[in-house]
Amino acid sequence: MKKNYLRLINEDNKIKDSERPRHLVQAPFAQTNVLVDPMVAIQLEKLIKTTGLDGQIITIDGYRSKQTQQALWDETIQEKGLEFANKYVAKPGCSEHEIGLAVDLGLATEENDFIRPSFTDSPVVDKFLEHMTDFGFILRYQKGKESITNINYEPWHFRYVGTPHSSIIVQQNWVLEEYIEFIESIKGTAYEA
Ligand code: DAL
Ligand code: ZN
Repeated sequence: MKKNYLRLINEDNKIKDSERPRHLVQAPFAQTNVLVDPMVAIQLEKLIKTTGLDGQIITIDGYRSKQTQQALWDETIQEKGLEFANKYVAKPGCSEHEIGLAVDLGLATEENDFIRPSFTDSPVVDKFLEHMTDFGFILRYQKGKESITNINYEPWHFRYVGTPHSSIIVQQNWVLEEYIEFIESIKGTAYEA
């Protein structure tokens, strides 16, 4: 089956067991065993190398199985409480980490927390954000869109959607939920791709 890089995953659009990835590869720039979809690995490596940012960015996390997401959810509730977990961790079955198309990035110069890595206020981040859409990535959980995504602003969490979708989403200042709604609204019209 052809991979749908635009697949929207959230609480209303849970991952189906048939969509769970079967082929994953080691993520570039990771210091631990982090897996991602092969396309994510290729495009992230190209993005970081082309922009000259290698050595400055660490891939903190990528693919999570349903069990891993469940464990993260349970641990986060235990350690930080339900309110924090609801803001920063998707419920098991509702995380795009479970389809292998999301990565959490941190700055190599920082002490990176696993749930909330440091990826703000730096020329490295600015350069990454400037070029990410050329390689198909978007910042998935934007500031000011919390009522749509139901997740807090997460400056470290990037989602691969492919080009030109990434550029359109960023130009329009949309989150993935809004882009998918737009795509659905033009289905059956002359604009349908
Ligand atoms: N941190 C994001 C929302 C996740 O757990 O998928
Ligand atoms: Zn993430």
